[in-house]
Amino acid sequence: MNFHVMTLFPEMIEQALQTSILGRAIKNGCIGVKAVNIREYTKDKHKKVDDYPYGGGAGMLIQAQPVYDCFQAVRADVEQRKGKAVADRLRVVYLTPQGQCFHQALAGKLAEEEELVFLCGHYEGVDERVLEEIVTDYLSIGDYVLTGGELPALVIMDAVARLVPGVLHNEVSADLETFHDDLLEYPQYSRPVEWHGKRVPEVLLSGDHKKVDEWRREQSRERTKCLRPDLYEKYQRRQEVIHSLLKKNKALYIDMTEALQRGREELIYAEDDGVIVGDRQTGICRLAAFSEKAAVKLVKRAAAESKFNQYVLHQPSLLVPLEEMYQVEGCTPFRQAVYNSRIAPTIKKRIEIRSLTPVYQQEILQHSSAVSESCIKEQLEKGRLFGAFVEENLAGFAGLHQGGGLGLLYVDKSYRGQGIGRTMLSYLIGQQLSEGLTPYAVAAESQAALALFRQLGMKLGKESVYWVKR
Ligand code: ADE
Repeated sequence: MNFHVMTLFPEMIEQALQTSILGRAIKNGCIGVKAVNIREYTKDKHKKVDDYPYGGGAGMLIQAQPVYDCFQAVRADVEQRKGKAVADRLRVVYLTPQGQCFHQALAGKLAEEEELVFLCGHYEGVDERVLEEIVTDYLSIGDYVLTGGELPALVIMDAVARLVPGVLHNEVSADLETFHDDLLEYPQYSRPVEWHGKRVPEVLLSGDHKKVDEWRREQSRERTKCLRPDLYEKYQRRQEVIHSLLKKNKALYIDMTEALQRGREELIYAEDDGVIVGDRQTGICRLAAFSEKAAVKLVKRAAAESKFNQYVLHQPSLLVPLEEMYQVEGCTPFRQAVYNSRIAPTIKKRIEIRSLTPVYQQEILQHSSAVSESCIKEQLEKGRLFGAFVEENLAGFAGLHQGGGLGLLYVDKSYRGQGIGRTMLSYLIGQQLSEGLTPYAVAAESQAALALFRQLGMKLGKESVYWVKR
């Protein structure tokens, strides 16, 4: 992942990133950081970049021209290395106390970007017109005012970079710590067993991993309740929705449960008549209506959030009101399955499985008619599609959908009946379990796919789910 920081003080960024974990990550190429000096792009012969605000007021403003030209240089650099498509959808973060408050789930989202641009303001701010043209996200790191955006940019880069694969080495650790799940981390102890008369809690010395996990979880809950009641309330609300509403039909609602549990999407609506979960950034929302009457109400509620343009409907009754409100582009039914055990299926066949690169995009698209080109491209770029290779030939592939469900399964005709699909899914299930996740799968309504999920010991939903684009 590459960070680009547009700043008047590039040395502040460069010096701060030379040491420790981020310094090492830069050296070994996991992340790249370029501090770009806005002053180098001014057309003023005295190298001036600021001026007085119209209408009067204290302080100076950074002018639009140098910021705009600096951004065009960053954009051109990205276009040259990654192509126009990546350059066209660059996320540009402006650091300002007026922005949305930065938090861990947002760090996770930003870590999925290939290139991320920061604009650091100074003085009294930046001319509004250039912000309107280039900025996609306004972020704050807290309700206090700093002298510039460099420290906030560094804070955000640190939080994002440590989620980039390879930066922390032990990759699971970022997933199981403070703020994952809206809970704070449990207390930790190291040698000696006794210090200042205080002993390490006995359970940690027991060697019983199940008990240790339970104790840690309980400690996390207690700590959060006591130190961050605001977070605890969010956690409790989510657990309540999962356990009282979505557990009614676990396999049918597993995508919603996991989107909440993994912190990928937020709760938009939850009452006795239905639940809406969604992500305003990707435009995906998931609707569950517990009665026919509720269907209209839920669709209206989701439509009030104009950002949603992809709807995952868990009852066919939701389709009619949606079609009345919008022009919809087809409706694809699919079925979900959930893997309830913590032990991965055994892999019977020895096949080489490798993460696929974007080179395979065309080949995959030919066999994935239900999935959009942009989705395949994104999953390839993020290393979430895997190929099975037999004597260096791509015999099949499988991977993760954007929501996190397993699927996108295809086995070439000449390799069918050899257990390749089963092996790939077993591999992916094992991977998800090792990350502490509940594996679930999303399949087109084909008998072969459903039979395969059953064979793997997954519990299938009895009803279909419908994917609708508007
Ligand atoms: N610039 C000045 N203060 C800031 C803050 N609290 N967060 C982000 N950017 C800022």
